[in-house]
Amino acid sequence: MRIYRPGQIKPSEITDREVWLKRRQLIKAGMGVSAGLVLGGASGLAAAVYSGPDRNKKIDALKETDYGKDLEPTRYRSITTYNNFYELGYGKRAPAENAHILKTRPWSIRVSGECAKPGVIDIEDVMKLDQEERIYRFRCVEAWAMVVPWVGLPLGDFLKRFEPGSKAKYVEFETLYDPERMPGQERNVLDWPYREGVRIDEAMHPLAFLATGLYGEVLPGQNGAPLRLVLPWKYGFKSIKSIVSIRFTDKQPGTTWNDIAGDEYGFYANVNPKVSHPRWSQKRHRVLGRGIFGSKEDTLMFNGYAEEVAGLYKGMDLKKNF
Ligand code: MTE
Repeated sequence: MRIYRPGQIKPSEITDREVWLKRRQLIKAGMGVSAGLVLGGASGLAAAVYSGPDRNKKIDALKETDYGKDLEPTRYRSITTYNNFYELGYGKRAPAENAHILKTRPWSIRVSGECAKPGVIDIEDVMKLDQEERIYRFRCVEAWAMVVPWVGLPLGDFLKRFEPGSKAKYVEFETLYDPERMPGQERNVLDWPYREGVRIDEAMHPLAFLATGLYGEVLPGQNGAPLRLVLPWKYGFKSIKSIVSIRFTDKQPGTTWNDIAGDEYGFYANVNPKVSHPRWSQKRHRVLGRGIFGSKEDTLMFNGYAEEVAGLYKGMDLKKNF
């Protein structure tokens, strides 16, 4: 049996966000630079030797919930070697190769804005907050799908500690800005730091959570250590990694992909097979780790979580609010 390796993805299956990124680099380079040079630069962060992902420290006293028990988890190796994390490089394998550069201690998260108790919380205290540490199994969808046995804490419970007020209509998230620990930021391809946002009712929904680990172990750098957002009913780019700032705001915040290409990446980013991306259909997706290139399957509305989350969008035109 041939083992599927992420490096074997056909060029036609690489997400168009990367195509877009290269196009942007060409534009920035004044169109005079050959594509070869630009692409060569894009992989320049990759470590010379790569020996595969290290297994991380186990999380103690983990209680596994029944949630998602019917879903078969994607292999650890696929989850941790096929990533998007531009701060750690621009190819799918680059984040795993460069994760060692991302030092995740010391680390703290600033919570600010429209709340009664703003403050700074150390990551060690966040990890302790999850009194009933648990494994969730969630299907995630980008242009590909995987099932990740996440460890995390409900986002809503975490946010309530800071007592958001009536003006807290949205929640804005920011990734660390530190080119020493995130060398991808030395290149001006995105408007750093990476930013995301959700409506407060989306943030408070019980399915929204902050991940601290996967497969019962501390989160690997390439998957967004030490803390990343997961909204299982939204496309992958919504799940911002390596968060250092959370802010309650009364206005819809700008988000990295929506600001850069608003016609292609909406603020809501709900998985929706009925709304095509301007350049491709969103009716089907590839399943990571299944066969050489992964078999395709139908994409479900809200990634299969419609029963739980459709009510959040009642009365909204999801073609306009994509
Ligand atoms: N967060 C930061 N800070 N930087 C990124 O480049 N990429 C996003 C999202 N979060 C990204 C990020 C995109 S495009 C995707 S698809 C998911 O992370 C990928 O998460 P995974 O690598 O754990 O599957």
